[in-house]
Amino acid sequence: MSVEAQDFRRTLGRFATGVVAVTTLWEDHPYGMTVNSFTSVSLAPPLVLFCSHTNGATCKAIQAAGAYGVSIMAQEQMDLCKRFAGMTPVQEMDRFLGLEYTRSPVLGVPWMADCLAWLECRLVNTWPAGDHVVLLGQVEQIRVGANADPLLFFNGQWPTIQRPSDGVG
Ligand SMILES: Cc1cc2nc3c(=O)[nH]c(=O)nc-3n(C[C@H](O)[C@H](O)[C@H](O)COP(=O)(O)O)c2cc1C
Repeated sequence: MSVEAQDFRRTLGRFATGVVAVTTLWEDHPYGMTVNSFTSVSLAPPLVLFCSHTNGATCKAIQAAGAYGVSIMAQEQMDLCKRFAGMTPVQEMDRFLGLEYTRSPVLGVPWMADCLAWLECRLVNTWPAGDHVVLLGQVEQIRVGANADPLLFFNGQWPTIQRPSDGVG
């Protein structure tokens, strides 16, 4: 049975996810992309992964730098999400223009301001996977930010959700 690309997209769109900004710094230039394929992999050691389309500018920069940052987006950050997804007129090399960010403590990768939480990851392995690359990262430092509502992605849209008032942590 063959799987049509359109059906595949629509089916996977029924899997609700959060949204993160994956970032890096290479040759003094910051790179960033919007990602919803981010997931945790292992607790000991702490490992995470995400998948990037092959030949993307951010993906190439991460492989050159050997590190990436993850900034978990809040509901208020739809503009950041769209900008880092290339959905606004901003040029790829200007994606960080006017945006606030800090550098992570160990690896110095960008952490975007006003996010829910941040991770910094040393790139430990990559695998080609069809038209994408899987990038496995070992987490070196983490930080929890504001207690705000998360940005969600479902069915090609950004539905709103209120965090539970008695959430853990
Ligand atoms: C909600 C959302 C999630 C996305 N998730 C991914 C993803 O997991 N992997 C990917 O390669 N692109 C993903 N994209 C598309 C990239 O953000 C977009 O192609 C971006 O321009 C890639 O940056 P680059 O040009 O530096 O590669 C997503 C876009 C949106 C709106």
